[in-house]
Formats: sequence, structure tokens, C-alpha cells
Amino acid sequence: MKTIVTKMEETNLDNDVLDKAGEILRNGGLVAFPTETVYGLGGNALDEEAAGRIYEAKGRPSDNPLIVHIAKFKDLVALVEDISENAKILMANFWPGPLTIIFKKSKLVPDAITGGLDTVAIRMPSHPLALALIEKANIPVAAPSANTSGKPSPTIAKHVVEDLDGRVDMIIDGGDTGFGVESTVVDVSGEEPMILRPGGITAEDLKELFGSVNIDPALDYGKSDVAPKSPGQKYKHYSPKAEVVIFESDSLERLAAGIKEKYDAYVDDGYNVGIMATEETEEYYEGYCSLVVGNRAEPISIAANLFKKLREFDELNVDFILAEGLDELGINLAIMNRLKKAAGGKLIFID
Ligand code: TXA
Ligand code: MG
Repeated sequence: MKTIVTKMEETNLDNDVLDKAGEILRNGGLVAFPTETVYGLGGNALDEEAAGRIYEAKGRPSDNPLIVHIAKFKDLVALVEDISENAKILMANFWPGPLTIIFKKSKLVPDAITGGLDTVAIRMPSHPLALALIEKANIPVAAPSANTSGKPSPTIAKHVVEDLDGRVDMIIDGGDTGFGVESTVVDVSGEEPMILRPGGITAEDLKELFGSVNIDPALDYGKSDVAPKSPGQKYKHYSPKAEVVIFESDSLERLAAGIKEKYDAYVDDGYNVGIMATEETEEYYEGYCSLVVGNRAEPISIAANLFKKLREFDELNVDFILAEGLDELGINLAIMNRLKKAAGGKLIFID
């Protein structure tokens, strides 16, 4: 399949290209497009065959359900059985934006989209290009992250081309995405909302609104043997080719010393090693191969760069990525969730 790759600025939308992309989606084809979180791989959410094509293009297990994207509040009604009070509060506060809500699905939504579950995940993105595309398509658009299954999610079109060129009909290059980590997935079927996947909207944001919020205990990597409620969380994920190891410590100086000690040991064994550093620790790693992921005082900068840096380490052909851990406040909870999954839970504490 020849993939059309086309550039478009969110401030200068090209209606002809969007018409064409909308038509591809309506006819069962696949279009990758930017959202405010990561690039999505879109297909018609009401078409079982389109769902099949999404799973095939990504190499994704078909029991891992897709998120359905809508552009207008009224588009929700046909897709769900009912809309709870808590769901209404979430929608009013965070849509459009990086928040996905789990609803009981209506009969209109094929089982192929929800991996056989009787619930469906829905979000209204805030990216102008994503919204315009969904409106043009005039159908709900199922869109997982536009990466090969298991790899870090794409935050620039180049990543999508690397993973999906020749496997999808069109890739719209709208530049960098914003948050850089995926949407927060929330289940409001119980009394208190529960975060099934941390993301762009933080636990603190939800707590402020509801007074309290639960986080699926199964997300605490390795500490729980119950299955996560969000099927996607059970897979090793976001992984670059290299093996990721996370380091934590109470002091940045000791953290850097511990990381360098491990680095030297791996190099002695003949491995290529890279360090994922922060602006605050960069100076400790002079003479070591390191990339700065962002600034600890502005965690949003780390979220925006995380997946990009993991892919850059692959280009450097390192065997091991030694990454600095963060506290789990605010957006850091999402960053550490992705990092721990990339590391398969490997975490070393430096005393
Ligand atoms: O930011 C995002 O959410 C991006 C952009 C493209 O919108 N999309 C995304 O989709 O991250 P994906 O498919 O890579 O991740 C969807 C997550 C998975 O962890 C999946 O298990 C969960 O949402 N999910 C989908 N439907 C669900 C359901 N009915 N119940 C529980 N979890 C669900
Ligand atoms: Mg994904």
C-alpha cells in the first residue's frame, strides 16, 4: 500500500486534504493524525473491518480495546447506554481534552472495537486538526496511538512514518503533539471515579473535582497480582529496543553517582549505554552518553519529550537506557507509569 504523507499546520487547515482524509475514513481506510497527546491511527469506529485493519497495521492484540474519538457532545449519545452524573461532570470540565471516559456501550459499537467488552472508551480531543478531521469524516473515529504495538507512542509524524509507512492510507503531519503522553482513562461506573491509566489530566485535577479519586491498584507495577482493569496496561509497552532500568534516590547527587557506577560496569562488559538525564543532573554526566529529557521543575517538558528520547536512544544503538526516576505527583504519575512499563518494572533504589 502506498501511504500518502501530507503536512498541515493546525493554524492553517487544508479543507481539501481533510475532505479526502474524511472520505478515506468513511470508506474503511486508515488515517494517522496528531492529537494534543500523541499521534492516533484513525479508522471508522462503526466498521468492524476498519477495526481489523487497525489491529493488523499496529500488530496489536485484538483483546486490547480502542478509544473512540468524537468531535461533538451530541455524537456521544448513540454510542453509549447511559451517561452518569459523574461522566457529565468530567465531560463538562475536561472535554475537549486529554481525558477518556469508559461508558456502557450501545449496540451500535462493534465488539471488534471494544475487544469484546460491554464498555467503550470515548474521548473528545482538543487538537484543532483532530477535531476538524473527525467532523469532516462525520463518523466516530477509533484511534489507538499510531505506533507499532509495544513501541513508544509517536509524538512527531516521523515516528509514525517509521512504524506505519506502507501499512496505512494516509499520515497527516501536524508537527509536534502537546502533552506527549496519552490521555487519562477514567472509569466512573462506581461511586468514586477510578483512574485506569494515568495521563494528561492528573489525579490531583480529578481529586479537586470529586474530593477523592481511586487509582487502579493493579497499576502499581509488580506489587499487585490482579489484572489491570484497562486491558492495555497488562502488556509490556512503550519499549525501545534497549533495556530500560530506572534509578531512584533521595538525593540527585547520589542518584547520578549510582547511575554512573552501573554505566561503567555495563561498559566494562562490552555494552553500549545511554543515560536519560534531566537539566538538573546533566552536569554530573560529563563524558557519559546522556540525553536530557526535560526539566524536573517543569515536568510537562519531560512528558513532552519522553517517548521521543526513548526513540533517540534506539537510534544511538544503546543496549541499556539508565533512566532517572521522578516523584509521582501531577503529570509525573503518567511519566513514571510509562517508564515503568518500558522498564518491565526494573527499578533500583540508590541509598
Ligand atoms: O491520548 C490517547 O488516548 C491516544 C490518542 C491517539 O487519543 N490514544 C491511545 O489509545 O492512547 P491506545 O489504544 O494506545 O490506548 C487505549 C487505552 C488502552 O490502555 C486500553 O486498554 C484502554 O485505553 N481502553 C480502551 N477501551 C477500554 C475499556 N472499554 N475499558 C477499559 N480500558 C479501555
Ligand atoms: Mg498505545
